[in-house]
Amino acid sequence: MSDETRVQLSGGERTVNVPAEVPLLPLRDTVLFPNSFMPLAVARESSVKLIDDSIAGDKVIGVVTQKDPTHEEPGQADLHAIGTLTHIHKMFKLPDGSLRLIVQGLTRIHIDKVISTKPYLRAEVREAPEVVNEADALELDALQRNVRTTFQQVVQLSPVLSEDLATLAANISEPGRVADFIASSLGTIGSAAKQHLLDLVDVRARLAELHRVLAKELEVLELGSKIQSEVQSEVGKGQREYLLREQLKAIHKELGDTDDAAKEIEELRAKIDAAGMPEDVKKEAVRELDRLSKMPAAAAEYTVARTYIDWLIALPWSKRTEEVIDLPKTKAVLDADHSGLDRVKDRILEYLAVRKLKPDVKGPILCFVGPPGVGKTSLAKSIATSVGRKFVRVSLGGMRDEAEIRGHRRTYIGALPGQIIQGLRRAESRNPVFILDEIDKLGSDFRGDPASALLEVLDPEQNNTFRDHYLDVPFDLSEVLFITTANVLDTIPAPLRDRMEVLELVGYTEEEKRRIARDHLVGRQIANHGLTADQISFTDDAIGAIVRGYTREAGVRNLEREIGSICRKVARRAAEGTLTAAVVVTPQVVEEMLGAPRHLEEEMKGRTRDPGVAIGLAWTPVGGDVLFIEASRMAGAHQLTLTGSLGDVMKESARIALSWFRAHAQQYGVDPQFYKDAEIHLHVPSGAIPKDGPSAGVTMVTALASALSGRPVRGDIAMTGEITLSGRVLPVGGIKEKVLAARRHGINEVILPRQNQKSVNEDLTEEMKRGLIVHYVDEMDEVLQRALLAAPVAVKADDDRRQRLSLA
Ligand SMILES: Nc1ncnc2c1ncn2[C@@H]1O[C@H](COP(=O)(O)OP(=O)(O)OP(=O)(O)O)[C@@H](O)[C@H]1O
Ligand SMILES: [Mg+2]
Repeated sequence: MSDETRVQLSGGERTVNVPAEVPLLPLRDTVLFPNSFMPLAVARESSVKLIDDSIAGDKVIGVVTQKDPTHEEPGQADLHAIGTLTHIHKMFKLPDGSLRLIVQGLTRIHIDKVISTKPYLRAEVREAPEVVNEADALELDALQRNVRTTFQQVVQLSPVLSEDLATLAANISEPGRVADFIASSLGTIGSAAKQHLLDLVDVRARLAELHRVLAKELEVLELGSKIQSEVQSEVGKGQREYLLREQLKAIHKELGDTDDAAKEIEELRAKIDAAGMPEDVKKEAVRELDRLSKMPAAAAEYTVARTYIDWLIALPWSKRTEEVIDLPKTKAVLDADHSGLDRVKDRILEYLAVRKLKPDVKGPILCFVGPPGVGKTSLAKSIATSVGRKFVRVSLGGMRDEAEIRGHRRTYIGALPGQIIQGLRRAESRNPVFILDEIDKLGSDFRGDPASALLEVLDPEQNNTFRDHYLDVPFDLSEVLFITTANVLDTIPAPLRDRMEVLELVGYTEEEKRRIARDHLVGRQIANHGLTADQISFTDDAIGAIVRGYTREAGVRNLEREIGSICRKVARRAAEGTLTAAVVVTPQVVEEMLGAPRHLEEEMKGRTRDPGVAIGLAWTPVGGDVLFIEASRMAGAHQLTLTGSLGDVMKESARIALSWFRAHAQQYGVDPQFYKDAEIHLHVPSGAIPKDGPSAGVTMVTALASALSGRPVRGDIAMTGEITLSGRVLPVGGIKEKVLAARRHGINEVILPRQNQKSVNEDLTEEMKRGLIVHYVDEMDEVLQRALLAAPVAVKADDDRRQRLSLA
């Protein structure tokens, strides 16, 4: 307790010199009593000036309450006649220029005459001394006791007054001061009543009036508590809350807290009401808001609580878009956005049809699997448009932390909800189409397993009460239409895969790519570059040339990019003003703009010119690829060296290949003892990419046979197949991707295991098969017969042809 406070409470005499003239600070809605301390907020320009001047001087001013709080520039008529001589104890300047003061009332003064109003009020004043009639001593004593006991009762019942106040009041002996102290402590009585008490210089009258006020206050409080105990209904609670809140407001106001804070709280309350939250969530939000309303805005925790409430308010608890499943229309949208993909589109339509017939059925989660750029993401987006749902996308690639899915607990500094809740906030709807991209690239480590959090998200049985760590209240995800995408299936954790219905999108054929380019990509790129169809057009041949000479992908992303770079060049000319006539993009123009194309056939032949290199086909996440397997023999000791990041299965394939060829060497004119003093080296480029699987068996044997016999391998045929020790060729997977990869590389002839014939017939479309020569084989011998050229030859075009014919 500071010295000054003690002065006040001890009631010790302190003579006050009242100057004849003082600066006068008008108060809007507060009354300051002598001997009490009070915080004041000062914002009026004139008042700020007044304080500035007084602080520099003797810090003594007059304080008086306005009759009408809204008056901006009060004159004498607008002020009460009795005010308080006041000492300014402390002053803080706020950044907005307003001031906070701590003042102490000294004594009552009478405002005689306002002598100036600019720059602020000055007035002639004189002390308004207390009138104590000695004859009333007995009555005064009785009144004072009554006031004290009633005040004590008020304090006990009041939810806002501290019990200490009663003790403090009991320690003041002078009757006038007791009255002033109690009057200034009462938060609820309003400034008119307070001013009235200030006006009463007659102590007896003041005590009598105060007693009346206290008695009334007590009555209200008793009634309030009676109502509370009687009516325990929701209404009662609401009223009590309302009452308390009003009181709290009054206190805030009394303390000079800015109204802004209170207004903010009220705004938040209204928003909570409007957010459509479920009951228990709302309860949580209101609880947090109540906590917030008691915190000073500067506290660090305030921001935390505020952010949390903002999140609760922002989530689409009951906002949803109306889903219209109109199958013909949906089909039209899907067709308009994407060429081909008929099987996938059919499956999507079936899926939506079931949803239409049985809206409450918990359908499977769709998973689009396929190489990059085949339209997985954009297909999902068009599903959203076609059924009138919002669309959000979250990439799971590289996510290792469970908290990224499910959020951090609020106790973390800077905690936020996870991606699922963030996505929903962005969607502003509780039933969006929600894409979880790259679900195959989820990681996991010591920070927890995001896959297990996703399990909960995707499980229709439990996702109606999905609990984000940050929100800590359940959110219903059951109306969200989740679609996941992946390049490969096998890295998706099995329990997740189980919950999804897989739709495969393999790569496109050249024909399909041309169609996609013609119908979609060209138009889009022209528009994206600010051009019009009058300025630039692409011939079919040009598109074909781009597909063949500049891209080698399963999807169409690079194709779109190359078309884009041609558009960019034309756009530049248009911007420079050098575009005189419309540009018709022909294959020649393509070559001028994109540089020389890659001639694939030549490249393939070049790499296989020397014996020892065979072209295999591999299944990869980007949709299949060709694989050059190289073998060579050097002097050494009975050793097989394998390089190229091969997995165990692939290494075993290599051993089998070597063993089989050793057993059959003679047939190919190779000394069966070749291995005795030789080291055999098998290498699979690109060395840094890990590879595995048995399907390179036939290619390895072919490369070995070629290296050892000196017969080169054909550069226009590719192969795949597993082998056994006895030389049988077994079926392998990924035929469709492999065939597409071969054709992308300009190879139209393939050797496949006979048992894969069925998958060729069923999985490959007519278009994929057009112009394709497939040799089905059962035995390794057949492979070598097809693939090896006769003898070391100087390959001239004609010779090559003849060789091939004789072998076929
Ligand atoms: N069948 C198609 N018809 C029209 N446009 C297509 C088709 N397939 C792909 N596209 C276009 O190709 C581009 C790439 O597609 P998208 O981004 O959907 O690929 P993705 O399969 O999601 O690839 P990633 O696995 O790399 O994410 C998009 O602009 C898309 O519109
Ligand atoms: Mg994608």
